[in-house]
Amino acid sequence: MARYMGYKRPKDTKKAFKKLLHYLGFHKWMLLLVTILVFISTGANIMGTYLLKPIINEYILPGDMIGLIRALIGMGIMYLCGVLASLGYSQLMVRTAQKVITEIRRDLFCHVQTLPLRYFDAHTHGELMSRFTNDVDTLQEALNNSFTMIIQSFITLVGTIIMLVVLNFQLSLIVFFFLAVMFAFIKFSSQRSKKYFTKQQLELGRINGFVEEMVSGQKVEKVFNHEEADFAEFCRLNENLRRASTGALSHAGMMVPANVSLSYANYAVSACVGGLFTLAGLCDLGSLSAYLVYVRQSAQPLNQFTNQVNFILAALSGAERIFEMMDEEPEIDEGKVTFCHVSKGEDGSLREETAYTGSYAWKLEDGSLVPLKGDVRFDQVVFGYTPDKKVLNGISLYAKPGQKIAFVGSTGAGKTTIINLINRFYEIQAGAITYDGIDIRDIRKKDLRKSLSMVIQDTHLFTGTIADNIRYGRLGATDEEVREAARIANADSFIRRLPEGYNTMLYGDGSNLSQGQRQLLAIARAAISQPPVLILDEATSSIDTRTERLIEKGMDALMENRTVFVIAHRLSTVRNSKAIMVLERGTIIERGSHDELLEQKGRYYQLYMGQYELE
Ligand SMILES: Nc1ncnc2c1ncn2[C@@H]1O[C@H](COP(=O)(O)OP(=O)(O)O)[C@@H](O)[C@H]1O
Ligand SMILES: [Mg+2]
Repeated sequence: MARYMGYKRPKDTKKAFKKLLHYLGFHKWMLLLVTILVFISTGANIMGTYLLKPIINEYILPGDMIGLIRALIGMGIMYLCGVLASLGYSQLMVRTAQKVITEIRRDLFCHVQTLPLRYFDAHTHGELMSRFTNDVDTLQEALNNSFTMIIQSFITLVGTIIMLVVLNFQLSLIVFFFLAVMFAFIKFSSQRSKKYFTKQQLELGRINGFVEEMVSGQKVEKVFNHEEADFAEFCRLNENLRRASTGALSHAGMMVPANVSLSYANYAVSACVGGLFTLAGLCDLGSLSAYLVYVRQSAQPLNQFTNQVNFILAALSGAERIFEMMDEEPEIDEGKVTFCHVSKGEDGSLREETAYTGSYAWKLEDGSLVPLKGDVRFDQVVFGYTPDKKVLNGISLYAKPGQKIAFVGSTGAGKTTIINLINRFYEIQAGAITYDGIDIRDIRKKDLRKSLSMVIQDTHLFTGTIADNIRYGRLGATDEEVREAARIANADSFIRRLPEGYNTMLYGDGSNLSQGQRQLLAIARAAISQPPVLILDEATSSIDTRTERLIEKGMDALMENRTVFVIAHRLSTVRNSKAIMVLERGTIIERGSHDELLEQKGRYYQLYMGQYELE
């Protein structure tokens, strides 16, 4: 539950509304056309009703049959135009709404990709997913229907009121009174239910987050017999959602029946008073007939509006959550230095190439090329995931091109954190990290990451074939290169034993493979990109020592003249490193080669001799 603590409750409806208008603004001509068509269709309905007056007064009462037929045909044509316009605008609106939603969804996805890891650390996946699904869906529903409904209701209301006043001003005062009461009631109820709608979307996100965690943590749940506790927690969240939804819908739901009752009362009173007016000669029969139809219609826009209120309120809450996510600060990236493929001319000069060549360079802002060697230095780097807790205290280290640098130390010492900083997953608080002499903050993030290949501690495989997953490291790689990378990672033999070989589909993070096999694929994926710098974070922790040794041989050949950072639990893995850093609580307490460290008889010696447990 701690993950929710960072969650800010969205509350700025106006801002969300403005943003929504911004998106609608891209389609303003289409929406204008929709509005015109709505105008035509509503106008036709209103005018059609008005025709009742001349029809009764001028044709029916005097008995002019031919005139009546002509008037009825005219009325029919008018209604037909109205129907055609309705068909037109509903079709256009569906298309426009889908476009708007697609654009919002696209921008949301695009923005999520730019968010810093810090953001993902503080939100559950399910809760984030909920914005793409529930929140976007509710917005879509509202755009599909409510936009035209609101315009229609507005035009109908204004048109009807004008007609009522034109037909009989005194009688229309009755209608005004009832409309004012209905309006006040709608305003009151929707204000109350808005609060619940916001809560409903929030609770929906929480439930999604919980279900997602439960599904991905199925095994752990079963191992610890946590079903009952999880069920209880789910019931609690479910109950919260029920309460929010009930609150939202009951306030919204009260509006329709109340308004229907009020509109009947309105009709009855108007009919009685209208009848008395006609008897007293204050009103003619034709006007009264048309008038009473308008009275019936006058409640319709309000009812329609109240019917839409549910959708609109839910949609605005959804929009708030969507736009709140879009407003999250993206990762800062002010770097200008870029990464490029180069070839070497005969005189040793570098030339930029568009295709993969196997050699790389940094392209500085002035266009000059600096060969990419893989020299990484940390200078007094201080970092904490939160400002109040330092995880690294003044780390200084250097890795020269071609060196293999290892980190060892107890769990939580900060090994993975150091790696995260090279990649600029997080921003350092003090000190500097340089790459071939360039501060990594000056390198464009995308290019920095292109130059590094990483096997992270928790491997992640995507839905797709094994070959696809390996090719993830370099999209243009040929089948032969995929196989070669698999051979280096020693994954080739197990892949070929699978019935479908490289075309075996992986689902759910590769759950049909063993943990060790997943790591082999992750290594192959890193190997295929042949990067200048390779980072292996506990990459071989689930692999047996014999296989590990084979991988190491392949990797050593691959990584010749390239820089490698390894983090390993098994000290046998790091023995042949150029330098080994022993990390303890965010500080490097010892450094040197295997032999030097053994000579020092310090922590590494203790670890090696088994006198000091790593965990
Ligand atoms: N995403 C994170 N947010 C906050 N704290 C973190 C995060 N990742 C790691 N830490 C903390 O940083 C410290 C170092 O973690 P890490 O670098 O992963 O250790 P290890 O040496 O085992 O790889 C730990 O105390 C851990 O609690
Ligand atoms: Mg780690």
